[in-house]
Amino acid sequence: MKFHNTLLALSFLSISFIPSTRAGEVEVLHWWTSGGEAKSIAVLTEMLEQQGHSWKDFAVAGGGGESAMTVLKTRAVSGNPPSAAQIKGHDIQEWAGLGFLTSLNDVAKQGGWDEVVPPMVTNVMKWNGQYVAVPVNVHRVNWLWVNPAILAKVDAKVPTTLDEFFVAGDKIKAAGYVPLAHGGQPWQDATVFETVALSVLGSQDYVKAFVELDMAVLAGDKMVDVFSQFKKVHDYIDVNSPGRDWNVATSMVINGEAAMQIMGDWAKGEFTAAGKVAGKDYLCVATPGTADQFIHNVDSFVFFELTDADNKQAQKALAATIIDPKFQEVFNLNKGSIPVRTDMNMSKFDQCALDSMAAFKATAKSNNLVPSIAHGMSTTSYAQGAIFDVVTSFFNDPKADPKQAAQKLAKAVKAAM
Ligand code: BGC
Repeated sequence: MKFHNTLLALSFLSISFIPSTRAGEVEVLHWWTSGGEAKSIAVLTEMLEQQGHSWKDFAVAGGGGESAMTVLKTRAVSGNPPSAAQIKGHDIQEWAGLGFLTSLNDVAKQGGWDEVVPPMVTNVMKWNGQYVAVPVNVHRVNWLWVNPAILAKVDAKVPTTLDEFFVAGDKIKAAGYVPLAHGGQPWQDATVFETVALSVLGSQDYVKAFVELDMAVLAGDKMVDVFSQFKKVHDYIDVNSPGRDWNVATSMVINGEAAMQIMGDWAKGEFTAAGKVAGKDYLCVATPGTADQFIHNVDSFVFFELTDADNKQAQKALAATIIDPKFQEVFNLNKGSIPVRTDMNMSKFDQCALDSMAAFKATAKSNNLVPSIAHGMSTTSYAQGAIFDVVTSFFNDPKADPKQAAQKLAKAVKAAM
């Protein structure tokens, strides 16, 4: 009887899991450790394990991934990289150029990636015409997360311009709430900075400054204005912000301690994990002055060259799973982002995701879809580091001068080119 039951269980297993090849292991480096992020990556672990492979988790905490990248470099340099790593934007090209990454062309061809993912994304995933990365999602960075109950209490309206933001901020502050929840870490400072920069510069000059690294725009009058406005934003942050993690800042909005946060839509993952409903418990609106613009941040995974045949199979299975519509749906529902495929049924997604998808498509047509500086999309890691240094030291120095900051920005970027 016992034997019979085991056989029965095994036959069910083979029906539902159908491991097509021998089992391998993938060690995956990522920085998805907050509540919403952990829930999201758990879906991938589960789907890989259902195929008979095993997942070795290599999580390095730290929003924005700076710590993860430092650890990854140490492992790769010592000749012992993991099999997969969360790497995105310009870094993909840098790692591929150094010869570390394996080609995913066969998996991409089989999955028809070229047909279902927009070229604006696939271009970043390819190096020398070969797929070396698989995209996971599209995050919009220029979101303002709002606690509507606080705004109602202080009789403030949801700000649509920077001036309106300052008016609302004054009311919120006077009532004893924190207007803007923020974590004082370079990447979070840069996240707020890029939304202010987009609002003040407009899309064209934003691209000139942060993609083309045009010195005249970087040091120009409009950039001085960017720094002036950015300085004003600092007045609405509480004194305990230095070092605070981004998800702790999000929880301040969730708990009713702070009224707003400027953060990409991974913040929505925290609201969702806390059981909060978009449009009711919290609002998602574009950051002041950027309603018709979209700062994008595309997450992706790369795969390192391996020798073990089973582990190579596991890598391929992981890459194929990431693009699978079933994974795309569940993962992005948890993560707060939108699917990277254009052929998805979006019926399960909330208003924030639908707005994001509509804005993504509209801004691609109107030339208002711009890459994130803070999340490695707009330029090399060297220029990004230079921008972070100037932005963070300016933001944390009450005496810093906007005009000098613009000049410093241009100089620092030039030295990193
Ligand atoms: C990543 C997101 C992540 C966020 C915070 C960003 O750079 O693209 O996926 O949720 O950092 O950790």
